[in-house]
Amino acid sequence: MSWWDLMVDVLDVVMPLKRWKCSMRNLQLRFENECCPVWIGARCVDDVIFKLCELDASSYHVVTDKTVSRLHASGLFERIAAKAPARLWVADDGESTKSIGMVEHLAQEMVRAGIDRRGAIVAVGGGVIGNLAGLTAALLFRGIRLVHVPTTLIAAADSVASLKQAVNLPQGKNLLGCFHTPTSILIDLNFLQTLPVAQMRSGMCEMIKNALTVATENIPLLEDGLKPAANYSNAELMSIVEAGLLAKQKIMVGDKCERGQAIVFEYGHTVGHAIELAANGRVPHGEAVGLGMIVAAEVAGRLGRLSEVDVQLHHRLLKRNGLTALLPPGVTVAAAMALLRMDNKRGYVSASPDQVAMILLAGPGIPCGPADRPLTLVDLSLVQSCIEAHLTGGANVALEESRL
Ligand SMILES: NC(=O)c1ccc[n+]([C@@H]2O[C@H](COP(=O)([O-])OP(=O)(O)OC[C@H]3O[C@@H](n4cnc5c(N)ncnc54)[C@H](O)[C@@H]3O)[C@@H](O)[C@H]2O)c1
Repeated sequence: MSWWDLMVDVLDVVMPLKRWKCSMRNLQLRFENECCPVWIGARCVDDVIFKLCELDASSYHVVTDKTVSRLHASGLFERIAAKAPARLWVADDGESTKSIGMVEHLAQEMVRAGIDRRGAIVAVGGGVIGNLAGLTAALLFRGIRLVHVPTTLIAAADSVASLKQAVNLPQGKNLLGCFHTPTSILIDLNFLQTLPVAQMRSGMCEMIKNALTVATENIPLLEDGLKPAANYSNAELMSIVEAGLLAKQKIMVGDKCERGQAIVFEYGHTVGHAIELAANGRVPHGEAVGLGMIVAAEVAGRLGRLSEVDVQLHHRLLKRNGLTALLPPGVTVAAAMALLRMDNKRGYVSASPDQVAMILLAGPGIPCGPADRPLTLVDLSLVQSCIEAHLTGGANVALEESRL
């Protein structure tokens, strides 16, 4: 034992409260030439506060939504405010909060409250709050520090590991945005324990997507570990979140702007985004992506690219996650098809008006098309036919009829 270790141990006995021991685990995320530390733990609010104070920001601006404010963010804010100048900004829940009007409103309020270049924005919430706070942090003074404290599974295991910060336009999701690297990501898994089942399942849909596209080694774990009731312990969440972040890292390390190989993470999103927007906030993001993956698998199957075994793997994993393969109530095929034409991957490849660029798989971990931009042009009529056959109860009805 070195003299330093000895001194530290003696200090622990004499003054146990004076020295801080962080109980969180540390991962480093790399985005080409940039990196961002992730600290993960459970029941570790003290550590989260400690890590925030280490930033020595001139002021802390906690951005959250109403639900998360009530459950977690107000408490966290009080703790920060006891140590440093801080403000709490509470937005409405839901996708409609992701608007440029809201970004401008927040920025104006923060400037009125005295934020300067040494200030830090702390996003406490799900992917919506992460994107709203992220874009605000990217634009204020042309970029100030952003810390993510994710409280949904999607945010903790997926969206925080992306530099994309965007808001929606009425014409489509995430059409207005930029890239901004967070200063750090602080995860208390215990915050996720208050998530409704639907939100936990939504996050697991993104985990399934990452396993099918880039982290096939996680498929057996999902086959065994998925729970339709989505009641995961903190220890299970630790494995799930770490696996999610590492899956993203595999590709993000070499494609930080997600314009090349990392487009694969948009798997299921072409149809998924259209369904999510058509449902107007009534369906969680990941669930919409899950429905989008079913359509993508069926399209690839019909084109002879994906085997029936692998199409069924999609259905099996998503069903084990409690997903029902049906368009959400009130969402028509026509509405989804109209929004699909506004997909934000338009322009990557030149498509005719009756085509859409999709990510398709030739097998788990094998995207179709060029490796540096895995997009395939698909006829809209084929997409529509697969939605009708597999998301409107048509497939189930056919199955029932064949049993008669
Ligand atoms: N930047 C990216 O690369 C990226 C990746 C994936 C998703 N996203 C975006 O993220 C958004 C979806 O994120 P989301 O699913 O986290 O949605 P969300 O932020 O809307 O959260 C879902 C709901 O859960 C509630 N909630 C959050 N934490 C909670 C908790 N701990 N307990 C109880 N309720 C809680 C919220 O109030 C909200 O009502 C979409 O807008 C999507 O575009 C971005």
